[in-house]
Amino acid sequence: MEHLPIPLPLVSLLVAVFSIGQICFCNGGWSSNFVRDDYLSLDMPFDSDVFQVPKGYNAPQQVHITQGDHVGKGVIISWITTEEPGSSSVTYWPEEQESNKLQAHGYFLTYNFFNYTSGYIHHCTLQDLEFDTKYYYVVGIGNTTRQFWFRTPPPLGPDVPYTFGLIGDLGQTYNSNTTLRHYELSPRKGYAILYVGDLSYADDYPFHDNTRWDTWGRFTERVAAYQPWIWTAGNHEIDFAPELGESRAFKVYTSRYHVPYKASGSTSPLWYSIKRASAYVIVMSSYSAFGKYTPQYKWLEKELPKVNRTETPWLIVLMHSPIYSSYVTHYMEGEPIRVIYEKWFVEYKVDVVFAGHVHAYERSERVSNIAYDIVNGMCKPINDESAPVYITVGDGGNLEGLATEMTEPQPRYSAFREASFGHGILDIKNRTHAYFSWNRNQDGYAVEADSVWLHNRYWTPSSQSEAASHHAAFR
Ligand SMILES: [Fe+2]
Repeated sequence: MEHLPIPLPLVSLLVAVFSIGQICFCNGGWSSNFVRDDYLSLDMPFDSDVFQVPKGYNAPQQVHITQGDHVGKGVIISWITTEEPGSSSVTYWPEEQESNKLQAHGYFLTYNFFNYTSGYIHHCTLQDLEFDTKYYYVVGIGNTTRQFWFRTPPPLGPDVPYTFGLIGDLGQTYNSNTTLRHYELSPRKGYAILYVGDLSYADDYPFHDNTRWDTWGRFTERVAAYQPWIWTAGNHEIDFAPELGESRAFKVYTSRYHVPYKASGSTSPLWYSIKRASAYVIVMSSYSAFGKYTPQYKWLEKELPKVNRTETPWLIVLMHSPIYSSYVTHYMEGEPIRVIYEKWFVEYKVDVVFAGHVHAYERSERVSNIAYDIVNGMCKPINDESAPVYITVGDGGNLEGLATEMTEPQPRYSAFREASFGHGILDIKNRTHAYFSWNRNQDGYAVEADSVWLHNRYWTPSSQSEAASHHAAFR
């Protein structure tokens, strides 16, 4: 008897199923269950080269920059001196115009936290820079100056390509170092980082040992001095420790990391917005009051209608605690925010919401769960082409390790999830298309373990659904 020929597509399917091995297909999307070693989740020791204090008396250290205005023509430069205040001024000039040196004047502050006294924390804002221009800048005085550079973004516009890195919950372990190195080496060159909260994890140490804030500042300088990090506050920035006499939440974070919140009409550095190239980025605070009538609520209520998608088509929201996360760790913590804000995200067609907090990676389908009104019982996530994609990148690599336990079965809204350290890249091409990819640290820096084309919610007809995504099994 002759065997029936097996249709070629079926053969391909079978080959694919057997070759992906470490990925299982569940009720929802894909769950990778690759098991990895946890030993790298230790903080790097104080004498690690990445924490080296720069040479010279009173040398500026922990240099970092962020956007300094609403449109990208400003830069806030921050650094710390330890022996004495020194100068809070920055000398800067556009590339190839060294004869055209300019100076901006900032100021410094210090703070105490329990038994720790900070160095002199300088903040200096450069304003009215030219778009799309490389600038050199110098901090420090006398014999100890240090020179860095940055590039301003192109002018705002609907089809301006721009590439953001996505990093969250970085900490300062060997894995954190790998995450940062992979970001630096990525062939998709990021120009700015959208940072989704939890920076140093100093509060995991006795008395919130703030010297771990200093090591984190020195560790991240190699990237943060050259390109802006757009900051979001996480729970590890709260530093609420009344038992140590420290009850002013966010004191350390807001002393060290400044953001241009006033430029977007915000009254708090914990929530604000910036425009950059073709993107409008809204930063929210998961750990500040967000209920109706609160300052954050009132600000966002006014803010969302201001977004002009013809100028900046890509509407991006950053927050620390994810709204859609199917991991056991921190399960449902984002629910109070979802209940209040999800309907706005759908109404205003937010393209993507990035979050951290859960130490793993997850990407959702476009879903919403906004029909419920307390009496109708309609409380189930449904496919919704006006809804954002929710992406969790709390996988920077901090000392708390990975969130490995997932809720089962995988919910239908969860398109892909994997408990690995890594980082994301959002590569905006034009007003309609952006490419998001995720790199896991176990792979080479150029490998994309998950990727998806995002179709802009404002400029794409709602009938055109997206979905072409690709997950690569760990090899
Ligand atoms: Fe967190």
